[in-house]
Amino acid sequence: MSLSPLSSPSNPEKVADEAFLRGLPKTELHLHLEGSLEPELMFELAKRNQVTLPYDTVEDVKSAYNFTNLQSFLDIYYKCADVLRTEQDFFDLTYAYLKQCSIEGVVHVEPFFDPQTHTDRGIDIGIVFNGITKALEQGREEFGISYGLILCFLRHLSEEAAFDTLEQAKPYLDHIIGVGLDSSELGHPPEKFERVFKAARDLGLRAVAHAGEEGPTSYIENALERLKIERIDHGVQCTQSEQLMQEIADKQIPLTVCPQSNIRLKVYEKMEQHPILELLEKGLKVMVNSDDPAFFGGYVLQNYLSLAQALNMTREQAAQLAYNSISSSFCGEERMRTMIEELNGYLATA
Ligand code: ADE
Ligand code: ZN
Repeated sequence: MSLSPLSSPSNPEKVADEAFLRGLPKTELHLHLEGSLEPELMFELAKRNQVTLPYDTVEDVKSAYNFTNLQSFLDIYYKCADVLRTEQDFFDLTYAYLKQCSIEGVVHVEPFFDPQTHTDRGIDIGIVFNGITKALEQGREEFGISYGLILCFLRHLSEEAAFDTLEQAKPYLDHIIGVGLDSSELGHPPEKFERVFKAARDLGLRAVAHAGEEGPTSYIENALERLKIERIDHGVQCTQSEQLMQEIADKQIPLTVCPQSNIRLKVYEKMEQHPILELLEKGLKVMVNSDDPAFFGGYVLQNYLSLAQALNMTREQAAQLAYNSISSSFCGEERMRTMIEELNGYLATA
């Protein structure tokens, strides 16, 4: 597919400010819907569904979000998801996320959801699909945000459980564009899911996977080779291998990077150490995402802003990141052209 090149913004060397970043048309390709559950909505749903939370107040919840690594986050994250029970709950969760997107210049989303987190609690997969899909449709009509939904397999569970989930999802295949792989990375290499990814691809689904968030470069290599993924979620550990970085750059394999997540989960001590702009300058197709914004202190705009503040990200770099977010999406050629036109139109006036 040949796309219009990115236009240059005026004052390309200027550090990007909030107004510029907010107006920048962008997509979000790495967002866990369960990770957008704000404490306020969590309490509301707990009350609605008579679920007892291990916290008394919103402040209590926020002070528990003090993570030391990925697993320490996941332990809390799966507990919080227990308040999600009905189709209305999944609708409210998804709609709240889209509403936030609409005020941050996000024009297209490809969110993840983890059906096993819910089906393992006895919730029918249809409830999850219907609530999410209805909200995505409403978001498209109300905010003009296009979408493609991605079903993630939980990698700490078995291959058999992933196959079972794919089977349960079969009546809803037209609701999803692809499959992904998330949860505890270390000790759960991608090859564990080689066969279920093949089955999903044979059904016409696209494939992405978390790889190289905390895990070694071999997980990135095997996700590419054995799961045949089209995008790498996180992938920041590729900096450990010059050869792998070169390959990712040469093949223009997108990396859905999540800067604030990496700081909150202690992949890097501080944002000043984050390699995203170095990767961008080396020609890797990186972009900015929020991962689990309700847990990591901000949505996609906040992630862009943190890069401007900590790394002096310029308007030109921000525009390239937004362009990458659009050109790496699974939205189809026509929508992609429209979004790039919109981005270039914005840069001509901003
Ligand atoms: N599930 C939700 N957020 C995740 C992350 N950052 N890594 C792996 N699995 C996740
Ligand atoms: Zn993630």
